[in-house]
Amino acid sequence: AELEVPARILPVAELHLHIEGTLQPELIFALAERNGIALPYAGLDELRERYEFTDLQSFLDLYYANMAVLQTEQDFADMTRAYLERAAAAGVRHAEIMMDPQAHLSRGIPLSTCVNGVASVLATSQEEFGISTLLIAAFLRDLSEESALEVLDGLLAMNAPIAAIGLDSAEVGNPPSKFERLYAKAREAGLRLTAHAGEEGPASYIIEALDILGVERIDHGIRCMDDPDLVERLVDARIPLTVCPLSNVRLRAVDTLADHPLPAMLAAGLNVSVNSDDPAYFGGYVDDNFAQLGAVFELSDFDKARLAANSIHSSFASEERKAELL
Ligand code: ADE
Ligand code: ZN
Repeated sequence: AELEVPARILPVAELHLHIEGTLQPELIFALAERNGIALPYAGLDELRERYEFTDLQSFLDLYYANMAVLQTEQDFADMTRAYLERAAAAGVRHAEIMMDPQAHLSRGIPLSTCVNGVASVLATSQEEFGISTLLIAAFLRDLSEESALEVLDGLLAMNAPIAAIGLDSAEVGNPPSKFERLYAKAREAGLRLTAHAGEEGPASYIIEALDILGVERIDHGIRCMDDPDLVERLVDARIPLTVCPLSNVRLRAVDTLADHPLPAMLAAGLNVSVNSDDPAYFGGYVDDNFAQLGAVFELSDFDKARLAANSIHSSFASEERKAELL
C-alpha cells in the first residue's frame, strides 16, 4: 500500500488578528440569545448573506454592528477561547491578538470588561492550547487622537496586560500622522508599536507609519508595491509586513487571489507573513489562507517555510520563545 503522507501543518505565528473578527455567526446568535439582544437578521443564513463586501468600510459596518452581542467578560472570554481552539488546529503556536477597546467603550462596555475577558483566557493559552499569546490594543483611526490618548491612559492606569498598540479601522483620510502623540506616549510606556498601513491607503501612509509613528511592523502594507524606493527600504530594514491574502480579496483591495502581490513581495525579498485578519468574516483562518495561496500560486515548500519562519522572527515574542518555535 502507498504511504499516506498527511498534509503537513507548519507551526506559525499569527501577528495580524482582530479578536472581534473571530466572532463566528453561530456564536453571534448564541451570545445574542444569552444576552437578550435582538439581532436585525432572522437567522444564520440571513446574517451570512451580509458577508459580501465592496470595500473596507462595508465590512467595518457589519463588524462593529455584530459587536453588540459582546456584553460580559464571559462573552469576551468565550470568543477568545473559540479562536484559540481553531487557531491551534491551523498550526498557530504564537498569536498576537488585537482588540478594539474604543468599539466597546462607545457601546457602554467598560474597559475592564473587554480587557479582562480576553486576557483571562490568554493567561493560560500556552498550557491549554499550546499557543503563546500577547495582547495588542488597537486604536480606531477614524476617531480623534484625544480619544485614543484617553483610552491608552485608561489601559496604563489599570495596568492592562498589553504588549503593543496598533492602529486600525477606516484608513483613507486618517493618515498615521494623526496619531504622532499617541505613539510617542506608547513608546514611552515601553509598548511595542505596529499600525495598519497600505491596505486601502497609499504607500505614503507606510512611510508615515515608519517615520512619524516609529512602528516596528506594518499591518497589511501591500500598497508598498506601488513605490520601488519604499520596497527597497523595507527590504533593507527587514520591516515585517503582516499580509492577509483572503482579507484583501474579500475587501476588494485586490481583484482575485491570483492577483495578490504576495509572490511578488516574496520575490522582492520583503519580510512577509500570512495572517487571517478577521477570519470569521473573510472565509478562513491561517491554514485556509495557506491552502488557498498554495492552490493558486504553487508556492514551493521553501516559500511556505520562509513565510512561517518570517512570522516567528517578526513576532514580539521573547528570543527564548522564538527559538522554541523555529
Ligand atoms: N479592523 C478589523 N479588521 C480591519 C482591517 N482589515 N483593516 C482595518 N481595520 C480593521
Ligand atoms: Zn487588520
